[in-house]
Amino acid sequence: MAETILRLENIRKELGLSKAIRQTIIPNLSLEVKAGEFVAITGPSGSGKSTLLYLMGGLDKPTAGKVWLDGDEITEKDETEMNRIRNEKIGFIYQFHFLLPEFNAVENVSMPMMIRGLLPRKEIRARAMKLLDMVDMQNKYTNKPSQLSGGQQQRVAIARALANEPKILLGDEPTGNLDSRSANNVYQLFDRLNRELNQTIIVVTHDEEFANRAGRRIHLVDGKVERDSQLRAKAEAMI
Ligand SMILES: Nc1ncnc2c1ncn2[C@@H]1O[C@H](COP(=O)(O)OP(=O)(O)O)[C@@H](O)[C@H]1O
Ligand SMILES: [Mg+2]
Repeated sequence: MAETILRLENIRKELGLSKAIRQTIIPNLSLEVKAGEFVAITGPSGSGKSTLLYLMGGLDKPTAGKVWLDGDEITEKDETEMNRIRNEKIGFIYQFHFLLPEFNAVENVSMPMMIRGLLPRKEIRARAMKLLDMVDMQNKYTNKPSQLSGGQQQRVAIARALANEPKILLGDEPTGNLDSRSANNVYQLFDRLNRELNQTIIVVTHDEEFANRAGRRIHLVDGKVERDSQLRAKAEAMI
């Protein structure tokens, strides 16, 4: 039985729109994700997908309820501690890559490892190159983001997200800005990371085909889990 890597318990998220008006984004949500799971989160626009993902990754705090990551309750951590946990345990991929424009691919992927400060510079560089090889960017080490296509930028962003061997890879519509061929490449990469490295992945997506290829699909409506379906094994589902 795989260990629980992420647990949300009775999560509530409200936003104060003004002093008098509060909007409830997520009324009461509980769920568990096991190590090695590949989860797709779907739902209409405004259903709270990004909010949920940010709560999972400790980028936002719930109004009530608790979040555990890797056995640690992250809802009680202060910002400094949370920054460290995010850098070490969570890889985040956004719709837009957010690579640093003045740095090349190797330098961008090196950044989270430099911040963590565990490895000597030479080893960081070697690992960055290895990660770029893994996402099929071995010929673009010294390219800056502006010298890469959208799909290539996103693959560098994925390599960067993997730099510190995160417990969870979180993606917020990471292919939303890509043409269908590049999107498909990114999907296949996620698939491979999940299968070969047993990487836990949670991805918000609008893409039906992709959602159905994940191992589990959580469908949100109005901040509530409307469906939580365990799908067939990915490899079989694709045949
Ligand atoms: N900073 C904000 N200010 C006001 N409303 C917000 C803010 N962030 C999110 N919302 C509202 O919260 C709801 C859920 O948003 P979000 O999590 O971004 O949904 P999704 O990612 O599914 O499109 C929406 O109704 C949105 O309008
Ligand atoms: Mg969103």
